[in-house]
This record gives sequence, structure tokens and C-alpha cells, in this order.
Amino acid sequence: MRVIGLMSGTSYDAIEAAAGDLTLDGDTLFLRPLGHLSVPYPDDLRDLITATLPPAATTVQAVCALDTGIGQAFAGAAERALRELCDGAADLVVSHGQTMYHWVEDGTVRGTLQLGRPAWIAEATGLPVVSDLRSRDVAAGGQGAPLVGMTDTLLLRALPGTPAALNLGGIANVTVLAPGAEPLAFDTGPANALLDAAVRYFTDGAAAYDEDGRRAAAGHTHPELLRILLDDPYYRRPAPKSTGKEHFHLPYLQRALDALPTPAPAPDDVLATLTRLTAVTVAGACRTHGVTELVVSGGGARNPVLMGMIAEELPGVLLRPSDELGLLSDAKEALAFAILGFLTVHGLPGTLPSGTGARRATLLGSITPGLTPLRLPEPVAQPPRLLRVTP
Ligand SMILES: Nc1ncnc2c1ncn2[C@@H]1O[C@H](COP(=O)(O)OP(=O)(O)O)[C@@H](O)[C@H]1O
Ligand SMILES: [Mg+2]
Repeated sequence: MRVIGLMSGTSYDAIEAAAGDLTLDGDTLFLRPLGHLSVPYPDDLRDLITATLPPAATTVQAVCALDTGIGQAFAGAAERALRELCDGAADLVVSHGQTMYHWVEDGTVRGTLQLGRPAWIAEATGLPVVSDLRSRDVAAGGQGAPLVGMTDTLLLRALPGTPAALNLGGIANVTVLAPGAEPLAFDTGPANALLDAAVRYFTDGAAAYDEDGRRAAAGHTHPELLRILLDDPYYRRPAPKSTGKEHFHLPYLQRALDALPTPAPAPDDVLATLTRLTAVTVAGACRTHGVTELVVSGGGARNPVLMGMIAEELPGVLLRPSDELGLLSDAKEALAFAILGFLTVHGLPGTLPSGTGARRATLLGSITPGLTPLRLPEPVAQPPRLLRVTP
């Protein structure tokens, strides 16, 4: 089955579109990636997302405009993926949409809202669309995140020791597979969320991120700021757990800065401290679970200063990009969602209760028909245990 996966993470820098041929054979899921596109959001849509994200107040009209705008942007990315990656022929589109709110109260997820109406994608491509993948897990008592845990687990099973997968998006999440234990998957805290917010603030919006970690490299960790930031109870909460930008945003950072004695730290020192915060919290999560090898993906993997700090905090742990396992770092999450949609249409659950904390593993998503009547494959009884990526 040829599947297109569409994803935009909490950084909302671009829509990642990836396509792959998926085949299930016994307990092995074979994936042949067909390529990847990164489609930036139009400026006005990105501005509307920025203006609407927490802690901003919003209107239902803005929410409707976003649902349409994001749906149309995803539809454009899907059309391009169909044409440029699939020679015009695919079976299914799977769309994560754009998370606008992940509603967590005392560690319980009460709702999660991804916008980007799938009708636009179905209408543009003529293909059926699986969307809204998170909410079913929430309804089953789970965190609804991180959903990449399923793909990570299938991928990590072939590795020795206690391997883990780390994705450094706006938020950092890990999947840990210890021998003889159920897989764990949870958000460790911010990866780039606070860093990006600080860079935008210090540059008056001229820069969106600390390119190649240059500014962090020019600064020094501010021990008192790091201590205040590490005092957040989120880091002490045991897994399963998830978080988002409704927690880690600019006002959150400003509160921490306000708690410092004067003089305020230099901007580069703040950036160095935030980079260190990500490294320390990722490393702490890995140490708690005895991780021996870390497979890294996401935009943060391109930040050599962040990667260097993670390596420093985790001596003896092998760090390598997911590219080495055949999944390009920038395409991995989109492919993970393609896999989730594939599982859904085959009647297979997409979550691991040990990962999201749900009462049971559920069939994820809502299905929007394409141009022709919806015909689903015969349900499969045996879920895959392994993912093999083939050239
Ligand atoms: N060359 C780079 N140097 C430093 N940071 C980078 C670089 N490239 C990407 N990033 C970071 O990665 C983020 C995007 O990562 P991504 O995996 O797309 O996150 P998300 O899934 O949240 O959209 C950017 O906002 C930026 O912080
Ligand atoms: Mg992104």
C-alpha cells in the first residue's frame, strides 16, 4: 500500500510530507521510503497560528480560519507529494494536522486539538484520508502522545541493549525499549520550544531559531537560571506524560528570567542555558531508564551544539541519527504517521498502552473517503513486531 504521511510539529516551521510503500508480511512491516518534501507554511498562515497559540486568547472565527488554512496547506503538500514522490498514484493520505492545544491537567490529558480539516486533502487528492489520530487514545485514558512510540518500538526491536529513539522538535520525546520490559514513550520537556521563543524575542522576530547553535556556543550556561528552569515539576513526573507549547512558551521563560537577581543574563547566555536545559532533561530521562543507545531525529538533530551537550551529558551512550537506520531525520515523523494510518485501515491498533498510558490499545483516527467509495483492506489479526526499512 502506498501511503503519504503529513506532519507539522509544535515548531510549525513547515509541513513535512513523506511517502512510502508499506507491506505487512507476518510479524514484519516493510517500509520502502519514496522521499520527503518540506513545505513551508505561507507567512500569513504562520502568523495566524502564532497569534492564536496559547497563551493568546482567540475567537471561533480564527479557529475556523485556521482549520481551513491549515487544511488547504496540508492539501497542497499532499498534492505535491502525490505528484513528486508517488508518480501520481497512492492509496492513502494520513494527516496529523497542526496541534493548536494539548490540554493537560495534573498529568491527565483531557483533550487535544489538531486543526487542518481533512476534507481539503481528500478533495485535492481524491484519496481517503486518516486524520485526528490522537483523540482516540485520549478517549481511552491515554496521553494521546507521543504517537511515534509505535514506529520507534518496531524500529528499535532490532537493536541490542536498551535502545531509545529521541525526537527533537519543539518538544523532545523519547521511546525506550528495555529488554523484557514494555516500551515506554514520553515527552521529556522542551527541545526547541523555549530556544526558538527566546531567539524570536531577542531578535524581534528577525530570526526563528539559533542556527547551528551559534549563539548558544558563544554563551555560557547561567547556573541559577538553569536551576530555576529545572525546578519545573514536569521533569520529576514519571512516564507516561506529555506536554506542549501551552506550557513551555515565552511568558514561561520570562517568569524564570524575572525570578533572577539583576543584572539579567546576556541573550547568548540564556540561549546556552536553554540548550543545556534540553540536554540535561533528555539525558536525565535516558539515565532513569538505562538507555545504552540513542537514535536521534527532528530539527534539533541539526543543532551541533545541542547534540554536543547531549553527548556530554550521556558519556558511554552511542548517539546516532535515525538516517543510519534508513529513516531520514526530517522525514521520520511523517513516515511514522503514514504507518499509523496504514495500521488503522488494516484494523490494527496504533498505540502501546505502556507508552501513552491508555487503558487499552485503540484503532486510531477518523477516515474521510476519497473520490471513490471507501474500500478498506481485510482486517489483519497479527500486529507487526518489527519494522524493516528497505531501499
Ligand atoms: N540548523 C539548525 N540549527 C539549529 N536548530 C535547528 C536547525 N534546523 C532546525 N532546527 C530546529 O528544529 C526546529 C524544527 O524541528 P522540527 O523537527 O521540524 O520540529 P517540529 O516537529 O516541532 O516542527 C526549528 O524550529 C529549530 O529550532
Ligand atoms: Mg517542523
